Amino acid sequence: MMFVLFLSFFFLFLVYYVKNRKFNKGSSRVINVCNVCLKPSKNKCTNCNQIYYCSKKCQKKDWKEHKKVCGTVGTELIIPTSSSPSEMREFISDLMFDNDMENSNIPNIEQEYSMKYPHEKVHIQFLNSVQSSIKYLHFIERFIDHDPSEPDPKYIMKRWNEFSDVLIKFLTTPRKIGDIFIEKKKSPYLREKDVDAQSFNNMPKQSLTLNKGKVHIAIGFVDLDLLLRAKIIQNENSIDQPIQFIGYEGSVYAVAKTNVIKEMIIKKAPIRSIIEVWFSSVWTIETLKHFEKAVKSVLRFEDAPNDGPPNPTKKELHPKVRSLISHWNKSIKSPKSQQEAHKLWSKTFTSEDSVFFIVANLVEPRDRVQVTRHILTGEFPLMDDQSQKNLIASITMFNCNNGISPHSSNELMLQMMPMSTILSKNQRKEISFLNAIYNFLENAIIKVCDWLSPLEGQDEKIEIYLHFQPVTNDNSALLASIRQLDPWMMSWNNICDYFYVQDFHELLRACSGNDTVHIMTSIDWFKEIFGAHIMEYDGRVRRKMLNDAQKKISIAEKFVDPSGYFRYTDVISHPYNIGDIEAMMVVKESWQSYFFMGQDLINIGDFSFVPYAHTHKTHTLLNICFTYNKKVNIKTYCK
Ligand SMILES: C[S@@+](CC[C@H](N)C(=O)[O-])C[C@H]1O[C@@H](n2cnc3c(N)ncnc32)[C@H](O)[C@@H]1O
Ligand SMILES: *[C@@H]1O[C@H](CO)[C@@H](O)[C@H](O)[C@H]1NC(C)=O
Ligand SMILES: *[C@@H]1O[C@H](CO)[C@@H](O)[C@H](O)[C@H]1NC(C)=O
Repeated sequence: MMFVLFLSFFFLFLVYYVKNRKFNKGSSRVINVCNVCLKPSKNKCTNCNQIYYCSKKCQKKDWKEHKKVCGTVGTELIIPTSSSPSEMREFISDLMFDNDMENSNIPNIEQEYSMKYPHEKVHIQFLNSVQSSIKYLHFIERFIDHDPSEPDPKYIMKRWNEFSDVLIKFLTTPRKIGDIFIEKKKSPYLREKDVDAQSFNNMPKQSLTLNKGKVHIAIGFVDLDLLLRAKIIQNENSIDQPIQFIGYEGSVYAVAKTNVIKEMIIKKAPIRSIIEVWFSSVWTIETLKHFEKAVKSVLRFEDAPNDGPPNPTKKELHPKVRSLISHWNKSIKSPKSQQEAHKLWSKTFTSEDSVFFIVANLVEPRDRVQVTRHILTGEFPLMDDQSQKNLIASITMFNCNNGISPHSSNELMLQMMPMSTILSKNQRKEISFLNAIYNFLENAIIKVCDWLSPLEGQDEKIEIYLHFQPVTNDNSALLASIRQLDPWMMSWNNICDYFYVQDFHELLRACSGNDTVHIMTSIDWFKEIFGAHIMEYDGRVRRKMLNDAQKKISIAEKFVDPSGYFRYTDVISHPYNIGDIEAMMVVKESWQSYFFMGQDLINIGDFSFVPYAHTHKTHTLLNICFTYNKKVNIKTYCK
């Protein structure tokens, strides 16, 4: 299936390419502005037909630089001049049987898995197609030097997440690297129904510094991952009382599940059970017991108002959240089986799945097999050592009501794990990759447990309240109630991606206290600026950009992963993923200016890229931290 998709994708690509060759004889730079003064221009250097100049004057000015590259021809694919189907087929099959394609560098995931799990026929078949598509990454790489000029709708959708008239206009009028697509359509994330609720966060977060006694507000928290790496400090600003960690979420599912997990932590359920409820598609019977206790306890919370903001520091449940948790309570009697869990989990895979790049880049066959197993079954930890009658399907994943269906497509817990923290503390030879993650979670949850319900004679360090509540500009009662708490810090997940920038600042200002610091991560900044993507650069610099990006990744190895769990040279990934690392650096500042435009007196603490890790879902994440108060010494908050 994946294989067929890949082929058809390339077919499209080739058709566009060939069409381009046939009809637009010249080369086709997308960036048709003068290389010197950036004015729109139609004339190109007649020698190389690549670089635009508005006048002879500008061209002369640039010649000293330009002559170095003018006329150098890259290694070109020989593309047939006719696009008759038979010739095209021949061309594609030529490429496919090219010796280069058989890259021995690529591990055989299918074979390794079938040695350990010989009876999993469906899995093995699936891995066969995964294996082909990984091999074809090599094939894609050849296209990095070539410019299709006619927009491929599929590619545009992937790159910009829309295919609208305004976008096409933006892409076909003169523009330059760093220009903002200001008409980018934004729509709120919140949906009427929680159709594809997130089971857990899907990107790594900043490590948070909480100040003793202060208020932290977490908007769109999804789960408690922010606390895993957090630490509590005490200084002249601290107050002698517990930290109040107050979450507001627009997802019924996330609020229900996270309240239960919090209760399990408070009740000191075994850490393994907490980890299973949080992450795993399959639970042990033991876990079900602890889950039941926590559910009963959460159902004793009082009712939050149906509309209007809840009391921030009271344990309250919105009626919709109560309905879901009550449904879980009822489902405890008749859980589904492990087998059903596997089946339901695997339904969520789509053919575009690139999560297997993670596997391909792992160095130890042991880790490749285990992570493949995890991806295919959703088990965490793997349950191979348990007897089947001791296992059940996760209630929270597979027993929801009101059309709620969590675990949206291709969701993977590995995507949110802070790789540098985890890998630098473990030895690949001794600790398996999945165990390294398990140990990180175990230690982190023990820490949170000590904060929430400390040993006799010690003070409670944190109180956690999690509410169902959309945070929007028209929910002014809620914004006022947040402001009243004078939050020390507010975290916004990636909610900035769903707002027009002016509306977003308006929202933040409406709930900021005197010196509130805001932290967030943007995924979609990338879809708002021209030049963040490698294919937007001139064909002949792309190869170098790709190589430079690859170099950056290999340099990071020493710090992030000293014992080498992953490979950092010859990285197996879509070449765009790698190339974009270089491209995004070029345009970051332009987007930063855009994001803070008109916000005078802003005090920026951090505006930096999340370092590359193989496990991330996207590789262009931007961490942002700022306050509207100039007087705050923000450097101490954001790193
Ligand atoms: C911002 S979404 C992003 C999900 C994911 N990182 C992505 O982009 O694919 C994360 C969580 O924020 C919640 N959320 C989104 N907008 C919200 C809002 N205005 N108020 C409260 N929660 C919100 C959603 O319910 C969701 O659980
Ligand atoms: C939980 O479910 C059980 C069995 O279905 C039921 O007897 C009990 O009342 C429920 N508890 C709550 C708090 O809803
Ligand atoms: C916020 O600042 C104003 C003006 O400086 C001051 O009057 C007010 O007391 C401050 N509020 C808090 C909670 O510190």
